[in-house]
Amino acid sequence: MRNRFFVSLLTCAITLGHPTWAQQSIQPNTARGLALSCTACHGVAATHAPTGFASLTGQSKENLIKQMQDFKQGRRGGTVMQQIIKGYRDEEIEAIAGYFAAQPTSH
Ligand code: HEC
Repeated sequence: MRNRFFVSLLTCAITLGHPTWAQQSIQPNTARGLALSCTACHGVAATHAPTGFASLTGQSKENLIKQMQDFKQGRRGGTVMQQIIKGYRDEEIEAIAGYFAAQPTSH
């Protein structure tokens, strides 16, 4: 019993510490989930963004990545974006950009 506990503890530690676990590519559903946190301000896919907020659909993936990295690296200032985007890893930024770039722009 005691041994089994330690074996599972060890398995957990190995799984969490395993580098490929964290580097796995981001699945489409995860990208959608990440992108949803942006739609509160930027509007949802296939609808227009609320007045004053840039629509994230209808932009290329490359341009979206550039904008987000500019905020993240401090090349572009803003009111909130430079803070928000710091919470995302580069792979997540790429996945979010890919998600928005693939969305339809008209109703
Ligand atoms: C709290 C509201 C809010 C949230 C949430 C938010 N944004 Fe923004 N976003 C802004 C504002 C405001 C700007 C204009 C720059 C500024 O003032 O920070 C902006 C600008 C941008 C721009 C530049 C648009 C352009 O064409 O100039 C991009 C790209 C962007 N946001 C992407 C995102 C992504 C991706 C997310 C989700 C991870 C996100 N935003 C979440 C408010 C928000």
